[in-house]
Amino acid sequence: MATALSPRDYIPQSVAPLRVDAPGTVREMPAPNKIHHIHIFADEKYDEVVAFYVTLLNAEMVRERPNNVTFLTYDDFDHRIAIFKREGWSHRADKTLGVSHVAFAYDSLGELMFIYKKMLALGHEPHRALNHGNSTSFDYRDPDGNEVEIMMDNYAPLDNKAYKRHYQGTKEFGKSGDGEFDPAKMLALYESGVPDSILLDREEVKRLAAEGKL
Ligand SMILES: [Fe+2]
Repeated sequence: MATALSPRDYIPQSVAPLRVDAPGTVREMPAPNKIHHIHIFADEKYDEVVAFYVTLLNAEMVRERPNNVTFLTYDDFDHRIAIFKREGWSHRADKTLGVSHVAFAYDSLGELMFIYKKMLALGHEPHRALNHGNSTSFDYRDPDGNEVEIMMDNYAPLDNKAYKRHYQGTKEFGKSGDGEFDPAKMLALYESGVPDSILLDREEVKRLAAEGKL
């Protein structure tokens, strides 16, 4: 008779870090290679919050609520979001300082438009869609009101460095909100074949929005 596997049976035979740095070989303060995960606390809307992130991030539920934590991932890492049940805890007050949102990067407008349609069908609309110049973003609120952004770089990241550092936030750039657009109109233009080179260009977005087309 086969014996049931225990969690210990899943532990790999040996550890395998990305790299081994011998003592003395790290000589400068390292920068992170990526952001790994975020923690979210939820209570009454726990299941809705989990479902929201599973859908938004096309995430896999790695483990559901052992010790009241649910782990979600969307890539090779074991978890990217951990959602903790915190019974009776209070909601964050308005105008609270601290981390305000997390943004997830995608590769194309086509991906962002797919997500927009999918979330809309489930009743989730972004409260803000904006061309920042360097990026295009859609800001959502999860069922507890936490803001989460999905976005893309409008330029290849390396080509964009000078622009990011020297243009955004200046007088020539204009007000950040000037790049706001209607996501439904963006979808219509995208599906009618207007090229990304127009739809991701801040000046074109401002012009189309002023004409009521975006
Ligand atoms: Fe942001």
